[in-house]
Amino acid sequence: MNENNINNQIKFISHEIRNHLSICDMYSQIIRKNIEKDGIKNDSIINALDCIQKSIQIISSNIMDLKSIDTNAKKIYDFKTLVLKGVEMAKVYPEDKEIDFEVFIKNTNNIFVDENRFISCIVNIIKNGIEAIEFRGKITVLGEVRNGDVILKISNDGKQIPKEKQKSIFEKGFTTKSTGCGLGLCICKQYIESQGAELSLVKSTKSETQFEIKLPICDY
Ligand SMILES: Nc1ncnc2c1ncn2[C@@H]1O[C@H](COP(=O)(O)OP(=O)(O)OP(=O)(O)O)[C@@H](O)[C@H]1O
Ligand SMILES: [Mg+2]
Repeated sequence: MNENNINNQIKFISHEIRNHLSICDMYSQIIRKNIEKDGIKNDSIINALDCIQKSIQIISSNIMDLKSIDTNAKKIYDFKTLVLKGVEMAKVYPEDKEIDFEVFIKNTNNIFVDENRFISCIVNIIKNGIEAIEFRGKITVLGEVRNGDVILKISNDGKQIPKEKQKSIFEKGFTTKSTGCGLGLCICKQYIESQGAELSLVKSTKSETQFEIKLPICDY
């Protein structure tokens, strides 16, 4: 396929994905209206709808990237609020695994980020953590503001990343999973570093694998 055909194909696929995303979005709005109308108070349904709609927004902004439109929509957000949103969305991944989520955000501050991209990084890192746990385990998310930075540590107690593979995990296409693309961490690193921030693997031992995001706070 030549470059022109590939570009066209990307446009067509993006178009179709957007059509179907808008259908998902509209139906989730209909569900929300109906449960409100019927006076149903179910926090789990409301939470699921919030997560679906946030996911739709994130996919849409990724598709806009494909069309070369700049969607790096940086704004001021509260660090804690965004972290909690990301954690909530990633909680859908364990399916039949028994995963405990321990989340502790010691203090918070404003940060200047693209909300959708920042949340996607959190989701990607937690998803990897869940995938590293075979049946039962713990995901720990710790956040704090220290010396002008927000620091977010995301850990899991699943299987260790072998020493010799640790240097490759951020490379595009590096995966050890049969269904993986090896893109999650590469995308996260690219985005976090484009914000003048850092994403690193702090450690991976038999008992804990920990990633850290360090991002400057926003003072205005
Ligand atoms: N928390 C973790 N515990 C163990 N291994 C990990 C962890 N996070 C990443 N890895 C390793 O790094 C590799 C790359 O991760 P990355 O998220 O980039 O890709 P992936 O998860 O394989 O595929 P996808 O593109 O679907 O995210 C993984 O295949 C895995 O070997
Ligand atoms: Mg991944």
